[in-house]
Amino acid sequence: MPVDKDWLKRAADIVGPDGILSDVSDLEAYGHDEYALDTYVQLPKSVAKPATEEQVAGIVQLCAETGVPVTARGGGTGLSAACVSDPHGIVLSLERLNKLIQADPDNYAITVQAGFTLEQINKAAEDIGLFFPPHPGDESAMAGGMVATNAGGARAVKYGTIKHFVLGLQVVLASGETVELGGSFMKSSIGYGLMELMIGSEGTLGIITRVTLALLPKPGSIQTVLAPFDTVSAAIESVPAILNRGIIPFAVEFVERSAIACAERLVDRSWPARQGSASLLLMLDGPDEEFVLSQAGAIAEVMEERGALDILLADNRERQEEILGIRSMIYEALRPGTVELFDVCVPRSQIAGHVEFVHDLEQKYQVPLPTYGHAADGNVHTNFMRTRLEDGVLGQEIPDWQSKHEAVRREIFDDVIRRKGNISGEHGIGLAKRDYLANNIGRTNVALMRSIKKALDPKGILNPGKIFTL
Ligand code: LAC
Ligand code: ZN
Repeated sequence: MPVDKDWLKRAADIVGPDGILSDVSDLEAYGHDEYALDTYVQLPKSVAKPATEEQVAGIVQLCAETGVPVTARGGGTGLSAACVSDPHGIVLSLERLNKLIQADPDNYAITVQAGFTLEQINKAAEDIGLFFPPHPGDESAMAGGMVATNAGGARAVKYGTIKHFVLGLQVVLASGETVELGGSFMKSSIGYGLMELMIGSEGTLGIITRVTLALLPKPGSIQTVLAPFDTVSAAIESVPAILNRGIIPFAVEFVERSAIACAERLVDRSWPARQGSASLLLMLDGPDEEFVLSQAGAIAEVMEERGALDILLADNRERQEEILGIRSMIYEALRPGTVELFDVCVPRSQIAGHVEFVHDLEQKYQVPLPTYGHAADGNVHTNFMRTRLEDGVLGQEIPDWQSKHEAVRREIFDDVIRRKGNISGEHGIGLAKRDYLANNIGRTNVALMRSIKKALDPKGILNPGKIFTL
């Protein structure tokens, strides 16, 4: 059944007239995520904005009965077009499910509705003296979406990604039934990991309505160290020496001058490390200042031995936020000239080799490929640009960028596969990387995913076509 007047009337009976959108001007904001080009833009037939978990179930039941594809959407901060609708389908936006259900300091946990944002999670954790370690960039990301994409971020090296912090989920299944998976406990050996199956499933197996997240005690002190190096390889190659010193920073980011210069302009702030062509940004946490400063000192020694040109310490919050603020804006700054932001993940011993490979591609194809990322966990970002990039300024459009993009993309993914890595460390597959998944994990694994999809969503109404084709 198409999404027509009758269908919209039935949907409005479930979510109320304010909870349903169908004017084109209202739909536009829901037609895309943060993917740089408009390749995957698709307006849904309608957007449903349920205000309760029961209303989510009601809408999914209606979709199941009428065969209408339904795509769940959180903050829309994704980068792989995973929350873009099927042309005949609707978007189910979880933005109104934005309540804190329970802050539970005794169990180091917090239960929130799917539309609760990362910013709200951080604040709610802080209010009970605790800390939510994962930080997948954009703080307007929502709990449900972060779980549905198993979002990563800069703090994976010490704390892991979102999946390491999910204790429980409430999920609306394709039938419209609601299930509770997990709880507030740390361990379970109770058969198949149904909860784990939902993490990273990009809305194709169920719609997450509530999330229970694990929290940790708040660190007593945080310090940020910045070290410029002559070359990006020297910066990256110093990382194992730091870890071997027995110190695990909670973030180790590498950035190249060309990318950071663009972000500096956008936020009108200057990156304190001016020498060399690349820097390492390390963040350390621990019980108190003395402890963390002694770790910073040890790290400084190691990096100096490894050719750091300088060591800068940001010990106050303002300075730390300024540095992190510039780093966080790299994608935003490059975006007007970006075609695609890659988020491949390679085994850690392969990071420098992969980055060198990318720079060879830069020469071979004569296209800027600024590279940055999470240096201690193997997650490398390369921005494929369709414009020149000089001193942080986006210049003229590159002729034939389309064919160069295809070729560079294939070369990058093939290199990652040769190095036994994966094509998405943290942004997900969605539509953007779907056609390459089988090359990465093999046909048998994709077929396994398809059978799981068939078992949980036999009519194929939940976000069809994402991750793999049906
Ligand atoms: C970053 C995001 C884009 O690391 O993953 O900046
Ligand atoms: Zn990242």
